[in-house]
Amino acid sequence: RAKEKSAFVCQECGADFPKWAGRCSECGAWNSLTEIRLPSNASSASSPGVSGYAGSNPQTTLISEVRISETPRETTGLDELDRVLGGGLVEGSVILIGGDPGIGKSTLLLQTLLTLQAHMPCLYVTGEESLQQVALRAQRLEADLSGKQGQLTLMSETSVEAILAHCARQLPRLLVVDSIQTLHTEGLTAAPGSVSQLREGTAQLVRFAKRHEVTIFIVGHVTKEGALAGPRVLEHMVDTVLYFEGDPGARFRVIRAVKNRFGAANEIGVFAMTDRGLKPVTNPSAIFLSRHEQPVPGSVITVTREGTRPLLVEVQALVAEHPGGNPKRLTVGLDQNRLAMLLAVLHRHGQIALYDQDVFLNVVGGVRVAETAADLPSLLAILSSFRARPLPEGLIVFGEVGLAGEIRPVSGGPERLAEAAKHGFTHAIVPKANMPARPIDGLKITAVSHLNQALELL
Ligand code: TYD
Ligand code: MG
Repeated sequence: RAKEKSAFVCQECGADFPKWAGRCSECGAWNSLTEIRLPSNASSASSPGVSGYAGSNPQTTLISEVRISETPRETTGLDELDRVLGGGLVEGSVILIGGDPGIGKSTLLLQTLLTLQAHMPCLYVTGEESLQQVALRAQRLEADLSGKQGQLTLMSETSVEAILAHCARQLPRLLVVDSIQTLHTEGLTAAPGSVSQLREGTAQLVRFAKRHEVTIFIVGHVTKEGALAGPRVLEHMVDTVLYFEGDPGARFRVIRAVKNRFGAANEIGVFAMTDRGLKPVTNPSAIFLSRHEQPVPGSVITVTREGTRPLLVEVQALVAEHPGGNPKRLTVGLDQNRLAMLLAVLHRHGQIALYDQDVFLNVVGGVRVAETAADLPSLLAILSSFRARPLPEGLIVFGEVGLAGEIRPVSGGPERLAEAAKHGFTHAIVPKANMPARPIDGLKITAVSHLNQALELL
């Protein structure tokens, strides 16, 4: 009897509207609204449609009367994963894990499940691979399938309702959904993988996790631009968002927490992909460093601080003459806009113009550096390549560059310097305010407060 309702959802940002419009008023995208049918009343009592996943709870509670239970954390068996999660898994939390195809998402989660199955019932739902493929992978990971690990339950299913109906009966304590792009909910007519499906599917999983205190891992694919396919809104709905970084062809993989309600954001975990799955790398600070036989132009080593750990990485620049207009400015692992800004600062305050040069900037090893501490090393790498003159051996550089050409301090200076000294670096160029009070054994430290001083040093 109930009249069927519909809404219009923006395929770009996931915002929903009662009426159609040519342009999404949330994100400004044109022609991105598509109509979806809302679930009819019977089911919307338990799932309030596309708007709001928290459900309506008309009761109120005094803040002092809220029961606070210490959330025990479950270790995943992989200490680098525990680390990014903020010290282990929190019961009832929902974790979205994104990354390029082939980077190791399924491997990581299967390893985790095989470990945790020993003391809690786990369920692995696969919409992408056959059960046989999953079992073969478990064999490759050398799981003991005749023992407790053999009790891990698999399910090949893509209907959210069917998955949750099964979970409501069996109540696994940990559920893995691989991947959200393959799921569909029955209330919606849109295709699996569309924004409205992703949103509604995730909303149902989150509601289930909170109601039944089940921990859920949701696997999500990443688009070419590096964002989780689907709207940003998925990231808001879950407790924790982890991204796999690195080059699928390379040995090392980094997992970064870009959001974590139960721990520090930006913490990273480092793994090596071996022929028997992912192995944690507990002391990763120098693994991304390639030592050149001879110093080469365009290469500068810097210390970044990812989460709570210092990490030594090599920034490489290539500056090449560009005939004609529109020279290229490309970055891999660094922010492209930041490069444009640095080149403007170099022009204005260093009197070095590169408008007839292509500039490429790369962080070796597929790591991403989001820190401003990479500013000064990037500029010096660019200059070194431009002048075809290598920087001295054993040099380490970090520092933020401001628009006035000033070199600004970065956090964690002492830790960065200590790590550099530990790995045999002999000379450091750092912002003046990062100059340590006491000398560090074996490390000559030069403090600079303006770009010009740094340029003169070379
Ligand atoms: P996979 O975990 O399926 O990645 P995703 O789910 O993110 O798409 O694949 C990981 C890749 O790693 C795959 O190319 C095969 C390889 N691999 C190993 O090198 N060693 C192993 O033990 C396993 C299981 C996979
Ligand atoms: Mg996979």
